[in-house]
Amino acid sequence: MSIKAGSDAHKRLFCEQFIATHQSFDPETLPWPELDERDLTRLRSIPFWQEVYHTERRAGAIVDAFAPFVHDQLVRDAVEMQGLEETRHARLIRTMIDRYGIDATEQPIEKFPADLETAFIDFGFGECLDAFLGFGAFKTARQSEFLPEGLFEIFDLLMFEETRHIVFFINYMAWRERQRGLGRIRRTIKSLKFYSRAAQRLLGMVRRGQNANDGHDFAVTQTAVFLEGFAFRNFVEDCYRENARRMAAFDPDLMQPRLLPAIANLALQGLRLWPHKPAHQTPHPA
Ligand SMILES: [Fe+2]
Ligand SMILES: [Fe+2]
Repeated sequence: MSIKAGSDAHKRLFCEQFIATHQSFDPETLPWPELDERDLTRLRSIPFWQEVYHTERRAGAIVDAFAPFVHDQLVRDAVEMQGLEETRHARLIRTMIDRYGIDATEQPIEKFPADLETAFIDFGFGECLDAFLGFGAFKTARQSEFLPEGLFEIFDLLMFEETRHIVFFINYMAWRERQRGLGRIRRTIKSLKFYSRAAQRLLGMVRRGQNANDGHDFAVTQTAVFLEGFAFRNFVEDCYRENARRMAAFDPDLMQPRLLPAIANLALQGLRLWPHKPAHQTPHPA
């Protein structure tokens, strides 16, 4: 990166690029594919749509609540645009829920703390973690053709916007912390603290999802195709590679998330020390 983090030039670069790459589309008029019974059953059996819908509504609400408190006009414009996109994500998920008859209800959004900036930062690190893991999950699901490609193309719009959000957020944080005189080591320690909070929230969500899904047989039947060939090491590799692929689309002068890819890379080096076993052994012909 040739631009000094925290400088005015840095601020202009990450805000202007974010605003310039905004796409205009209407969730209701996207080319939603017709699904047959098998695909409908698969889509409806995914247990986390209610959580995804809630997360997107909550995201829009947090970003919208924080935006008026951003002092810098250009940064505020960019944050407002993110709020708009998050609200549109919620509309996109709602459109899908209604169109395909998915069982997901709207839940009340919890009250935010008085310190809206901390709420925004907590949310931002959460997005970075969700997106990083989402890259791998998305690749696995798409490759296994768990759902028709037309749906993945629509979800890809959403993934692209989430990638823009995390690039914006990483740059926003670096700019903000530099302005407060925080060096790289203290920024990394702070990021680790926020990531561990985000990981705890994510684990809580997974547990809630498992409890809510008790008695359903999602894991046993519908995911058979999705999980075919699934292995932890492959998943981490997919997250790592997909992150690199998606990040390559951004201006190299922008800062990019580095901590999670570095942790994943370390984990992969550790995992490579163990012999690799395929998830499913093909039986030898008798
Ligand atoms: Fe979103
Ligand atoms: Fe987002």
